[in-house]
Amino acid sequence: MDDFFTLPEGFLWGASTSAHQIEGSNTGSDWWAFEQAGLTDRIEEPSGDACDSFHRWPEDMDLLAGLGFTDYRFSIEWARIEPSPGRFSSEAVAHYRRMVEGARERGLRPMVTLHHFTAPLWFTERGGWAAPDSGDLFARYVEAAAPVYGEGVDHICTINEPNMVAVMAAALRTLTAGGSLPATSLPLPDEAATEGLVRAHRRAVDTVKSYAPHVRTGWSVANQACRPEPGCEEQAAAYLHPRVSVFLEAARGDDWLGLQAYTRTRIGPSGPLPIPQDAERTLTGWEYDPQALGAALRHTAATVPGTPLIVTENGIATADDDRRIAYTTGALADLAEAMAEGVDVQGYFHWSALDNYEWGSYRPTFGLIAVDRKTFVRTPKPSAAWLGAIGRTRVLPTASS
Ligand code: BGC
Repeated sequence: MDDFFTLPEGFLWGASTSAHQIEGSNTGSDWWAFEQAGLTDRIEEPSGDACDSFHRWPEDMDLLAGLGFTDYRFSIEWARIEPSPGRFSSEAVAHYRRMVEGARERGLRPMVTLHHFTAPLWFTERGGWAAPDSGDLFARYVEAAAPVYGEGVDHICTINEPNMVAVMAAALRTLTAGGSLPATSLPLPDEAATEGLVRAHRRAVDTVKSYAPHVRTGWSVANQACRPEPGCEEQAAAYLHPRVSVFLEAARGDDWLGLQAYTRTRIGPSGPLPIPQDAERTLTGWEYDPQALGAALRHTAATVPGTPLIVTENGIATADDDRRIAYTTGALADLAEAMAEGVDVQGYFHWSALDNYEWGSYRPTFGLIAVDRKTFVRTPKPSAAWLGAIGRTRVLPTASS
């Protein structure tokens, strides 16, 4: 392969965030309630004011555009738009509309996520995604949010990591029944929630298209890529099926499919293997593995051939920004290789624009931009300038460069 790979015209080059992780005071959401209750010992601290991006989003966008990014993926918050069942806040809708317009004014194309892990507490309390009418309720919210995305938005992600949302539904069921979660593994996705999420996705796609037929819709799956030991490929496929592949297959026929990759699970003859003692770990405890993205791209392209892919998240929690650059260099080399092989990838969004609330703690820092926890002052890290500049040159590093 050549030393450099030039990104095709129109390729999305951005960073990602989610509302609950950066806005602050998302008090009507289920996660806010989980944090106040200390639902599990994985919740070390509440999100509180987060990065105060509810007020500081113009500064976040100024920074991203100034760094060279051309795209910004952010989510809108259902709990703010529909604080109680059927009662909608036109103020919240206007707020997110201003964000879409603000992105455009700065030369950033907004990718809007409609659901990123958090739902209104009222929705979760009445059964969440497993409830028979969850798709109707989601579609009603998506319809109310139409003024946000009716113009100026080309890409909508309906639901972020539905597979992890279904895992969380299973965990919540166990915890509310007084049980406890396994220390080192995640529960399987809850089946009723999985069905509800697939239904809700389809309803959301139809709703978006009825208001804005030009919008390209998809959802983003947590890829949980595997690194099978020799001869354990079948075990890897069996591991991935209920956790990932079911959700990829549900996206067949969509305008695009998002993939999110951070690390890989080693698979042996009887399933997942522990991370080796001597392996480098990131601040989330995951194995350092830049090649996770390449594995996820190939698995996804093989599972749903013909569906365009967008990397909607990829990144690393580290206090060492040189490791972030090294990790991302490796991941981008794999991206270039997969694209050169013919995999149709239409965008790359780094997770995350900002150091933010990592679902229970501010300790794992994924950000390209540091955020002072008291003053909220933003300081771009060297990785931000390095990665943003690719938005101007449109040239990716390759394994041979
Ligand atoms: C989620 C993000 C999260 C990131 C790192 C993804 O699972 O979409 O909200 O912060 O991974 O854990």
